[in-house]
Amino acid sequence: MTNDLSGSVAVITGAASGIGRALAHRCAQESMAVVISDVESVPLVKVESELVRAGAQVLAVQTDVSDDEAVDALAARTFDRFGAVHRLFINAGVFQAGVAWQRSKADWEWVLGVNLWGPINAVRSFIPRMLKQGDAGHVVITSSLAGLITVPYSSPYVVSKFGAAALAECLAHDLAAQAAPIQVSCLVPGSVDTQIADSDRNRPTDLGDAEAEDHRLVTAALQEMVSRGANSPDSVVDTVFAAVAAGDFWITTSDSYPDFIDQRYQSLKSRRLPSSVNFD
Ligand SMILES: NC(=O)c1ccc[n+]([C@@H]2O[C@H](COP(=O)([O-])OP(=O)(O)OC[C@H]3O[C@@H](n4cnc5c(N)ncnc54)[C@H](O)[C@@H]3O)[C@@H](O)[C@H]2O)c1
Repeated sequence: MTNDLSGSVAVITGAASGIGRALAHRCAQESMAVVISDVESVPLVKVESELVRAGAQVLAVQTDVSDDEAVDALAARTFDRFGAVHRLFINAGVFQAGVAWQRSKADWEWVLGVNLWGPINAVRSFIPRMLKQGDAGHVVITSSLAGLITVPYSSPYVVSKFGAAALAECLAHDLAAQAAPIQVSCLVPGSVDTQIADSDRNRPTDLGDAEAEDHRLVTAALQEMVSRGANSPDSVVDTVFAAVAAGDFWITTSDSYPDFIDQRYQSLKSRRLPSSVNFD
């Protein structure tokens, strides 16, 4: 695929806020048609208006990525309207904090539903259609540094993000094994100034609430970390576009990424528990 994206089609999940919203704006600037989806309808409509004002062709589809039928309907509507997908940003995500043994089944189901089943659903619904379409394409799955390095007080999030990173690797292997014209990258950001610490706003009522003290404390710490975050969503998106153009698989925003990875693999080699790190 050339770097001229004009006239090609992008799909972004979790496009109503943060990194997803910034991705949508960048795709519009690149003169791509943009399919935006999010579980939150009011902010989604707001982003749709912003993109239309910017002159983009936009399709906005309210979608809960944990719902396989909803994601399949998103894919069907995308192909009905535009006939193709060239950039698929599997980005929607939520954060849940707290010690592993105190997390309710609902905590686990919510976070794994959005952060792991979301990407699985997107892969199952979009990849067959993209393969049938036959154009070159690129899929970016958003994991996290917490998908490569473990930390305390965040087990559902970390487990889900390790899964998303593994899915990205497996998808890349499968597509390469079949010589398919679709590339894959895995975005593993450090802290980014978004609404991720306010993920509870999107928690379905049938999956309980997050009243636990440890969840509140860690979420407050996360809020503090992302609001003094080294990275803006726009700078993350610049990094993503440059990395995709360069053909990188791992896309990171953290200067400490090589050190973190080195520390982890040194620990694995010497059979020690990898040390926890502070993400930047
Ligand atoms: N902000 C960070 O520091 C950071 C770091 C590493 C990874 N990430 C990842 O980046 C991605 C984007 O998050 P963000 O930081 O922009 O946060 P954000 O909260 O600003 O945006 C996330 C978006 O996902 C949407 N969403 C939540 N549940 C959904 C569902 N069930 N279906 C569809 N959409 C849903 C939200 O409504 C929101 O618009 C997430 O996968 C997150 O885990 C963020």
